Amino acid sequence: MADIERTGERIAELREQINYHNHRYHVLDSPEVSDTEYDTLMAELRRLEEEHPELIIPDSPTQRVGAAPLEAFGVVEHPVPLLSLANVFSSEELLAWHKRISNLVPGREMDFVCELKMDGLAVALTYTDGHLTTGATRGDGYRGEDITQNLRTIKSIPLTVPKDAPRKFEVRGEVYLSRPGFEKLNKERYEEGQPLFANPRNAAAGSLRQLNSRVTAKRPLDIYIYGLGYAEEERGDVGANRAMPPTHWDTMEYLKSLGFKISPHNAYVPDIGHAEKYCRRWEEERENLEFEADGIVIKVNSLELQRVLGTVGHDPRWAVAYKFPAIQATTRLLDIGINVGRTGSLNPYAILEPVYIGGVTVKRAALHNEEDIGRKDIRIGDMVIVQRAGDVIPEVVAPVVSKRNGEERLFEMPALCPSCKSEVVKPEGEVMTYCTNASCPAQIYRLLAHFVSRGAMDIDGVGGKLVAALRNEELVKDVADLYSLREQDMINLERMGEKSVHNMLDAIGKSKERPLAKVIFALGIRHVGAETAELLASHYGSMDRLASASEEDLLEVPTIGPKIAASIADFFQKKENRDIIDKLRRAGVRLEEEAKGRKERPLIGQEFVLTGRLEAFPRIEAETRIKGLGGSVGSSITRKTTYLVAGIDPGSKLEKARALGTRILNEEEFRRLLEEASK
Ligand code: IVH
Repeated sequence: MADIERTGERIAELREQINYHNHRYHVLDSPEVSDTEYDTLMAELRRLEEEHPELIIPDSPTQRVGAAPLEAFGVVEHPVPLLSLANVFSSEELLAWHKRISNLVPGREMDFVCELKMDGLAVALTYTDGHLTTGATRGDGYRGEDITQNLRTIKSIPLTVPKDAPRKFEVRGEVYLSRPGFEKLNKERYEEGQPLFANPRNAAAGSLRQLNSRVTAKRPLDIYIYGLGYAEEERGDVGANRAMPPTHWDTMEYLKSLGFKISPHNAYVPDIGHAEKYCRRWEEERENLEFEADGIVIKVNSLELQRVLGTVGHDPRWAVAYKFPAIQATTRLLDIGINVGRTGSLNPYAILEPVYIGGVTVKRAALHNEEDIGRKDIRIGDMVIVQRAGDVIPEVVAPVVSKRNGEERLFEMPALCPSCKSEVVKPEGEVMTYCTNASCPAQIYRLLAHFVSRGAMDIDGVGGKLVAALRNEELVKDVADLYSLREQDMINLERMGEKSVHNMLDAIGKSKERPLAKVIFALGIRHVGAETAELLASHYGSMDRLASASEEDLLEVPTIGPKIAASIADFFQKKENRDIIDKLRRAGVRLEEEAKGRKERPLIGQEFVLTGRLEAFPRIEAETRIKGLGGSVGSSITRKTTYLVAGIDPGSKLEKARALGTRILNEEEFRRLLEEASK
């Protein structure tokens, strides 16, 4: 055999292997080989193609990187229009839809397929003679834009299909960005000073409508296929024509067999009752999905029934979208207010024209900090996109720049604390601005509220209102004063009966026995959260030892970096804080670690990083066990990492750990360590 022939065969073999592994990785989510092995195959193919450019074909896996920029997109006519869907917003409306269509086909049984409605961009992919020939946007449903080059960069879109696929057919699906992909992309844009995408949908649309497909290639886009547009007869070279499947469900199974990525969340349901259950289940669990879904699509399963039911206007009768409550809305940013936090931080927040988002009226929303406001270019008077997802506090995502009229104002941090009019400072390297007055009333109020809260001293019955009253009456000037409150002081306070005074004093008394970690947390030291407080308590064992630790000492504590160390040292250097500690001690607050705390959590202060696959336990279990024993789990190797646990196919972390001299455990050693620690 001539050399060139042999090379040609090797190239074909490599392409086949790479396509196979691509499919395993990107479509089935179950790779068979490590990234390194995959990269080796790709490298060999690239090298051979470089040596023999005449053997390059457009469908080669090396050709997904993107092509030369376009001037504009071409227009694609859709032979079968892409319809839209009618919406329903409640179970009642869903059942009404079912009733309506059932009445059109009396006596017919109906089963359904339920699918998540991904929030992305609809596309149509045409395959001719086994190759992806056109990829287009939905456009107005009749004519879309030719974005073939961009779609070719999405690895879960097959460039070729098996020989027994129809000669010409079109599949439809939704291109989307996963939440982590979206966050990563926005983080990069933030760092580069580029405007942020408001949501994964906009980001996916923006990425697909790039004239330069090399940009698209860098975006972590993915696709789920949800329909077959049309299919012409089978390709001539393989036997007789095969009838297309009779149901939507079977069509999806068939497309899966051709290599398309079908959502694993799709469900066959025998009746509308089960469809409704599916909707309610996902309405509750939508937050846990790896991508954003804005509803559920319910489709009549039988294709014959679909044809009988037909369409009205642009909407098919045989399918409906059950929409989830929106998580974003647009409203006007009326002003930016400032809250003084317990550490004295000046926290800007948005004052909004009230807007209804997913069942709740939102009037205020988080704005994070000054830098963030500047970076996102949010101006007072702007129309802004506000998001309220799950349990998190609503936040302003981005301004709608196109709606500006020139009267918007830039936000400026006040030069004086809005509560006590003292000067404010912005420490070097920090994003927050702080009030410099240690006895700023707003600050003390917040600090008191934090001190009594559940995760801190847990003083039941002392809520925000009471804290305010105690402050106003000057009964407490600092947190330690809570312990010298007397019955007669409080009985005069408005709305305080004898019984509640008793309960409260009781709760204050009980709080003296709170574990050291809670006391440390309760002090409200800047940058010391509940977890750091745990670490400090177990490392130092007493408040005195912590208070006398130098910045260098503190840096020795695992996971404590320079910022936290400086803040702690600074806190205990201040006389007023040392006085508070003394007062707490005199009041009988326990400032020592209980002896048993340490023993039960023997891995305290040890940081583990995991790499590769573990055979005996899923990663999540390994993490839970480490944390249960007091250890922490890091995502990358640093000087502070205590152990790297290396499973099968470890990644680059192993080399880094070796370079840094981190202790490396194999699975067996790790198992033994856990066993020892649990004794
Ligand atoms: S079926 C006639 N299935 O929702 C059926 N659509 O208004 C039309 N979408 O633009 C589409 N996930 O991009 C269907 N599983 C799914 C879907 C889905 C998302 C989008 C689609 C379309 C819009 C419908």
